Amino acid sequence: MTMRNSKSWYSISCFIGFVLLLSACNDADTEVEGGSNGESETEGEETVIAGDAEQVFRLTHTTPESHMWHQAAVHFGDILAERSDGRFGLEIYPAGQLGTEADMLQQIESGSIDFGFITAAEMSSREEAFSAWFAPYLFDTILEANEARESNEASAILNTLDSSNMIGLDYLFAGQRMMLSRDVKIEGPDDMSGLTLRVTPSPPMLQFYNSLGASTEGIPLPEVYSAAQTGVIDGMDMDLDATITNNFYEVVDYAAVTNHMVWPAVAVMNDALFDGLSDEDQQIVIDALDEAADFSAETRYEQEEEFKEQLRGEGMDVYDIDQTPFESEIAEFDEEYSAIDSLIEDFITAFR
Ligand code: BEZ
Repeated sequence: MTMRNSKSWYSISCFIGFVLLLSACNDADTEVEGGSNGESETEGEETVIAGDAEQVFRLTHTTPESHMWHQAAVHFGDILAERSDGRFGLEIYPAGQLGTEADMLQQIESGSIDFGFITAAEMSSREEAFSAWFAPYLFDTILEANEARESNEASAILNTLDSSNMIGLDYLFAGQRMMLSRDVKIEGPDDMSGLTLRVTPSPPMLQFYNSLGASTEGIPLPEVYSAAQTGVIDGMDMDLDATITNNFYEVVDYAAVTNHMVWPAVAVMNDALFDGLSDEDQQIVIDALDEAADFSAETRYEQEEEFKEQLRGEGMDVYDIDQTPFESEIAEFDEEYSAIDSLIEDFITAFR
């Protein structure tokens, strides 16, 4: 694509984003005042916290309101309102209302949206260093990954966004990845050849599944349910939270709880907006995200067994698999991705 064409596409995308934003604003009627407990149930509309504040930020993400990232966003808004003595509010546009995650990134860079909780998978398509988070079996639990987000290695990955119009501020964890399947019980790579599995369209995740012998389809989250229902896919890479919040238990029978990868959302903000805040207000934003991230990881960690039971109650065969059957593919991943980028190599070396 020529520079001139790519600029026109960028303008068209920004315009579409603006129109989506306007239409979302017109449709909106969900109101959650500051100090809410985050239990908003309305789907497909925005959540507003302290909407009459002096400065109301706008945040977007891709998950339904029942998912932890939305609850973490509400928590973030509550803390912003409280710590700024009511000067800051937050409007949250969930469930991909504003388009795909690629659209959201364009809106954040253009300044029509202020914040995004964007999957590290999407970010890995922008900056390869984010692939480091997908090194298989690098962390045993999301609490370990949550500690790693405070490391220099994790910050260095966020800093790769410095040349864009966004700033990477933090990571939020809602669960680890597992393997869901319709008809074949997956107990190791031998069961995976011949299966077509949905994997988030992210190069490191696709690489891992291809090395296991599966065929992959890179399908975005909102289209996964019908792909499984109609048999376009035999299974999917997913987390526990999204399996429940998207009702995937209705269309697949087996859940291999591999916990093979962590799954961060990256908290990004328009950089001009961040730079325009006073030092004190920047710190309020940073602290509020930090607390929302801890809330997200700790809450979901505690709910893991409860979620497995819930899926069993829905009729799924839910079972644990450790990393033993996947050792050679783990080594293959480390070698291949460490050679791609020294930030990935440093990250794997620090946490393996
Ligand atoms: C997914 O694409 O699998 C996904 C995206 C956001 C949250 C959870 C899962």
